Amino acid sequence: MKDIVAVVLAAGRGTRMKSSVPKVLHEILGKPVIGYVLDSLNGAGVRDIVTVTGFGNDRLKAYLKDARTVVQKELLGSGDAVGTAKKALEGYTGDVLVICGDTPLVTSGTISGIIEKHRSSTASLTVLTAVLKDPTGYGRIERDGNNAIVKIVEEEKAQLYEEVINEVNVGTYCFRAGDLFSALAEVKPDNRKREFFITDTVEILRKRGKSVESVTVDDISEMIGINSRRDLAEATRIMKTRVLERIMDGGVTIEDPASTTIYGGVSVGRDSVIRPNTVIESNVRIGERCVIGPFARIRPDVEIGDDVEVGNFVELVRARIGSGSKVKHHTYLGDATVGSNANIGAGTITANFDGKKKNKTVIGDDVFVGIGARLVAPVRIGKGALIGAGCVVLRDHDVPNGATAVGVPARILKRKKQQGARR
Ligand code: UD1
Ligand code: MG
Repeated sequence: MKDIVAVVLAAGRGTRMKSSVPKVLHEILGKPVIGYVLDSLNGAGVRDIVTVTGFGNDRLKAYLKDARTVVQKELLGSGDAVGTAKKALEGYTGDVLVICGDTPLVTSGTISGIIEKHRSSTASLTVLTAVLKDPTGYGRIERDGNNAIVKIVEEEKAQLYEEVINEVNVGTYCFRAGDLFSALAEVKPDNRKREFFITDTVEILRKRGKSVESVTVDDISEMIGINSRRDLAEATRIMKTRVLERIMDGGVTIEDPASTTIYGGVSVGRDSVIRPNTVIESNVRIGERCVIGPFARIRPDVEIGDDVEVGNFVELVRARIGSGSKVKHHTYLGDATVGSNANIGAGTITANFDGKKKNKTVIGDDVFVGIGARLVAPVRIGKGALIGAGCVVLRDHDVPNGATAVGVPARILKRKKQQGARR
């Protein structure tokens, strides 16, 4: 998108979180709060982003990697935070979208909406608002007789009002760059806290005769700001619902959404069924007609083919399971590749960690692993092989294609016996 720069406010201490971790790095479904804000900006086509960091600066920068950041040295409020970005925007005359790094549920649609509205008007500032039954804790939007916004009144002062104002400030604003920085220069610190509030620019601009427009979000869940652990839990609940609904809309049955957690970005093919109490983490792809769970835990970096069954108390991580395979009970497969039409018996464990590093297990097509087998990686089980119940296959002791391995440690049965054993 042309001529739009976003300034993401993320320097705040997040006192109410009672944490040593900056609040925007607390995670919702495996992704930091600020990650959602950055994704929504990207989704809206905003490529030029400056993040204001402060509290927990090093950790935040480590997460943001190469992204553009400026440091707010003293945490003197949201107005001061935006001010620190001024230098980075020297000479820039386009629009500036200011967004709080602690509002992870704002969607890209809403961000595009406020940018479009701002551009189609002559307003100096367009504010994103929401109408809440209980506005406690948020800045209130005060309007005049013509329904024009006159100012934003923060919580402390709002309590002095007789009338309850239900329209609140979400914390997302679109400014003309010149108006933003000239108004900020006039903001006076709030008496008690010595903080400069970005929200005071509204009144300053109106007094100059400039117009301030607004866009109101339809879905009030978008505006939740993460200020406490309770907010984090509520945002997680809403985000979970969004993900589950997207997956169900793609033709997947989720038997019990309330007990199912699926991280963003997961894909599940049509006619697959997710049974209760299942957790599916990031970067997981599941094919069509699979049955997953109940009580399955699929950790990151897993790819599952079509017609696969993953049953109760199965944990998978960094694994590939080929089409038609079954992994039905009490199993751990980590750093493992399983071919197609394999059967992994109850209680099979891949020992992927040797105390220093993770090693790989490769299980070929049509392999049958008996119950309670231990496969010590690195190891390969050849196509069509049979691993006896309770067998321990030691590291580097690969099992050839079609062979039968039994015992502890595993030994390969001779061909004739093996044929008998397979029948
Ligand atoms: C702010 C708004 C309020 C709005 C609410 C929406 C102000 C004064 N008030 O209140 O009108 O309803 O968000 O969630 O802006 N920050 C800095 N540096 C600072 C202080 C804050 O970068 O010195 C950042 C925070 O990291 C946060 C954002 O600014 O992302 C807002 O600060 P926060 O303390 O959360 O303000 P709220 O009380 O939530
Ligand atoms: Mg906040």
